[in-house]
Amino acid sequence: MLPDFACKSQLTARNISICNFSSSFRAFLFALSFFFAFVTPSLLAQKVQVSVDASKPGPKIDRNIFGQFAEDLGHGLYQGIWVGTDSTIPNTRGIRNDVVAALKPLKVPNVRWPGGCFADEYHWRNGIGPQRAITLNPNWGGVIDTNAFGTHEFLDFLDQIGAEAYVSVNVGTGTPREAADWLEYLTTAQPTTLAKERAANGHPAPYKIAYLGIGNESWDCGGNMSPDYYVSQMKIYSRFVRNFNPDQQDKHQMLKIAVGPGGAEPRWTEWTDVVMKAYQGHTWSWDINGLSMHSYTVGKWPPSFASTGFGETEYAQILKYTLDMDDLIRKHSAIMDKYDPDKKVALVVDEWGAWYAPLPGSNPGFLVQQNSLRDAILAALNLNIFARHADRVRMANIAQMINVLQAMIMTDKDKMVLTPTYHIYKMYVPFQDATFVPVSFDPGSYTHGDIKLPRLDAIAAKDSQGKLWLAITNVDPNQPADIDVNLTGVNAKSASGQVLTAPKVDSVNTFDAPNTVAPKPVSAKLDAGKLSLTLDPKSVTVIAVE
Ligand code: AHR
Repeated sequence: MLPDFACKSQLTARNISICNFSSSFRAFLFALSFFFAFVTPSLLAQKVQVSVDASKPGPKIDRNIFGQFAEDLGHGLYQGIWVGTDSTIPNTRGIRNDVVAALKPLKVPNVRWPGGCFADEYHWRNGIGPQRAITLNPNWGGVIDTNAFGTHEFLDFLDQIGAEAYVSVNVGTGTPREAADWLEYLTTAQPTTLAKERAANGHPAPYKIAYLGIGNESWDCGGNMSPDYYVSQMKIYSRFVRNFNPDQQDKHQMLKIAVGPGGAEPRWTEWTDVVMKAYQGHTWSWDINGLSMHSYTVGKWPPSFASTGFGETEYAQILKYTLDMDDLIRKHSAIMDKYDPDKKVALVVDEWGAWYAPLPGSNPGFLVQQNSLRDAILAALNLNIFARHADRVRMANIAQMINVLQAMIMTDKDKMVLTPTYHIYKMYVPFQDATFVPVSFDPGSYTHGDIKLPRLDAIAAKDSQGKLWLAITNVDPNQPADIDVNLTGVNAKSASGQVLTAPKVDSVNTFDAPNTVAPKPVSAKLDAGKLSLTLDPKSVTVIAVE
């Protein structure tokens, strides 16, 4: 029954008119309005029909799209990875044990280092041997760099986490000779002076360097080069910076990645065009295997969206911006297709992620930001985009691994916390090297103010054991979504999975409350080849069907 006090406190015209009726009729109307307001949306909401056809496999989702980026920037390397052998923080040869243990389950395929903008001012000799040069880091806060984390420490770290090396050589302030020497130092098995120096520094065996980045953002922080000037540099580096590792001559050859675009504007479409046109005419003496692309979800420049303490509007805005990744990939892929229809050159999105305002009190040059449920959803949407472009996008590196931008992990002295983005990477591990499987569904829409976004997103893939994996994102922060997944080409007997959600769109994990955003088991019903489940609002669900 509608209580009298409710009538006394009526404010809206609609409610005032309800109060003019008898009390029992008022009660009926109240019950009816309650029903329509709260019950019917979920009862009447149409179940979303999703179709997954595992009999029509697509390209391989290269595990390298789950790559990481670890620049010498802020506390990304120092404190994030490197604490030194004298530290009271448990470490192995100076590298944090907690961080290594946390990264191992992510099966990190590759790590890009030392930059970023830093790479074009990095001189590798500063970071080898017992006596390290003390230098400055002018790009990132102008702070002192002890160079304690250099070549050997980076490769030891990769060895500890089981990842491949993606080394960016210095095209900005370095020379082809300097880069060539670095690669000889790293990779030759012959007893050259450089190889002996490597052995004296503790590593007699040649290192494997899987990927070589030829410069970084050469159109901007890497030296503001014109595309033609860059192309002539790129050819020289591609020709002379050789990998001598005997195990990388026929198979496992080092792949060379050229600087590519940083956006959709004409200067970047021209850049892609010039580099790819050069590639089309390449001779025996030089080659590239990848074209880098950088695209951050920033919203405004300088980055001013808050990474914490925001509401639904900022949630919707940022997710809208992030979906531009798809158009950007399409645009540059189309240019690449013109010169490389066989898709031999990979589009390597080796810097991407959310870039927000620096956390108050932090050094603005250290790019410190929080990581919320919004970032987890943003990560899933981007990984889905990469997977849908698996034929061209064969590598990507989120920026950046620890303590910088959209990080996996945050540390403070001996403390460590896993971010919501970390959990997405862990949930998506089964998609590494799995075969893309087409999914069709009506995504519907989620509207907030004048922002309209697809409400649902999904990808599917089959792993080498024949297990089918489905990742579904419900972007809507207010409404759950009931879905039926019709499975074809798979003998489905059981289904299990996890969901990542949290109380609020800006929920974060902190050192004191590390599990606010953490995956939980999800229940799904499997009946005659049909999977039924309810997706929580603002959530990412990953299900295995076998
Ligand atoms: O990730 C931070 C910086 O962003 C990188 O150093 C640079 O390449 C990009 O502009």
